Amino acid sequence: MAKVYVFDHPLIQHKLTYIREKDTGTKEFRELVDEVATLMAFEITRDMPLEEIEIQTPVSTMKSKVLAGKKIGVIPILRAGIGMVDGVLKLIPAAKVGHIGLYRDPKTLKPVEYYVKLPSDVEERDFIVVDPMLATGGSAIEAINSLKKRGAKNIKFMCLIAAPEGVEAVKEAHSDVDIYIAALDEKLNEKGYIVPGLGDAGDRLFGTK
Ligand code: URA
Repeated sequence: MAKVYVFDHPLIQHKLTYIREKDTGTKEFRELVDEVATLMAFEITRDMPLEEIEIQTPVSTMKSKVLAGKKIGVIPILRAGIGMVDGVLKLIPAAKVGHIGLYRDPKTLKPVEYYVKLPSDVEERDFIVVDPMLATGGSAIEAINSLKKRGAKNIKFMCLIAAPEGVEAVKEAHSDVDIYIAALDEKLNEKGYIVPGLGDAGDRLFGTK
């Protein structure tokens, strides 16, 4: 069964407050999202495998731990997910970045893939799908479908703010995918925005609207 982790670290919560605040401008918003993505990446990588190597300190030899070299892929869901990529790469610089673009079909209201570009060795990588907002869960579910269809086996989903509806939908559709969030909000409103949320993450990141 999928696990849901809510990161209540004080630094994450502090920064999230200013991300939510409506008067926070684009530059600061972007920087804060980047910083929170780095802090979340620190937590999300706790289970990365290690191996021992022998090294020489100035004093003696010793066995010491290094990352076992598990390959990672970071997958932003376009467009707002892009705002979290650099923050994650600060801690996992060797990760490759794939992109998944989805739009909502106006008739079915279902997300439809319009762009997918992934690292070629999908089957060998562990993936972190990033999107600041987990609202209905439609995009997250479809992006994870898209990765699985191409051979991905180990996937985590990371977002800043989630609605309970979205968390339930992703858990239901992908019981093998753990969900990492900075805050679990109250609900979705009639327009599909998370309440209290932060508004439109893409617009606030890119200064559109
Ligand atoms: N996407 C956003 O950017 N904000 C929301 O509140 C919901 C979905």
